[in-house]
Amino acid sequence: MTDADELRRRSARERPIVAIDGPAGAGKSTAARMLAARLGFVLVDTGALYRAVALAARERGVDWSDGPALGTLASTLDLSFAVDAVHGGASRIHVDGHDRSADIRTPDISMGASTVSAHPEVRAALLGLQRRLGERGGVVLEGRDIGTVVFPDAEVKVFLTARDELRAERRRDEIARRGGPVPSLEETLREVRERDLQDSTRAVAPLRPAEDAVHLDTSGLGIDDVVEQLAAIVERRAGGRLTSGGT
Ligand code: DC
Repeated sequence: MTDADELRRRSARERPIVAIDGPAGAGKSTAARMLAARLGFVLVDTGALYRAVALAARERGVDWSDGPALGTLASTLDLSFAVDAVHGGASRIHVDGHDRSADIRTPDISMGASTVSAHPEVRAALLGLQRRLGERGGVVLEGRDIGTVVFPDAEVKVFLTARDELRAERRRDEIARRGGPVPSLEETLREVRERDLQDSTRAVAPLRPAEDAVHLDTSGLGIDDVVEQLAAIVERRAGGRLTSGGT
């Protein structure tokens, strides 16, 4: 894309695209949800799409190593989001008409999502959907490659990180909250590190900060502070466009 194309695309949007990328457990989901609610923006949890593909593959006997078959599966699944007003605007994912939000959050499917997401066929199959969901602006998208690949022209890009041990603890808290069997801290730390390594070393769209991303380390910050800082970043980068127009 040339600079002129990029400017045209940006100026066609009345409200900004906010891209939040970062490794597992950096606090993206909660922060993105609260930020979207505060701004009145739509929330798109792109990890849920990769998780849905891993889950559907497992249920249909498609191997997580079979890129072409996974690509076909990903492009034929009917994936959509619904807002869960009862749980503070969390997004629910529907796969072929069924709410699978709980089923995609197991540790097995976390690793599976990371594995299937390394296949170029899967990434290509999910790219169009992510762009359609975000292109009109007024949206917070969270994932791994939003600022680098999905919306390189996003007005606001943030790369969230936190210390490994803290990220593992957060993952365990999340699993406990969902009522699943809680793995040990060592096991969770291993899983988080393995997933980061896999996500950041893959050939296509690896996890890495965009050059123009603002880095925010959430270690030692409470969630309200994180959201406060994110809101300040959005204000700085796109303040003039926060209330104009809208859908
Ligand atoms: O954010 P999450 O933990 O739900 O993501 C699950 C996996 O999906 C993650 O390990 C890598 C993959 N993913 C990706 O490759 N690109 C994205 N934009 C989002 C997630």
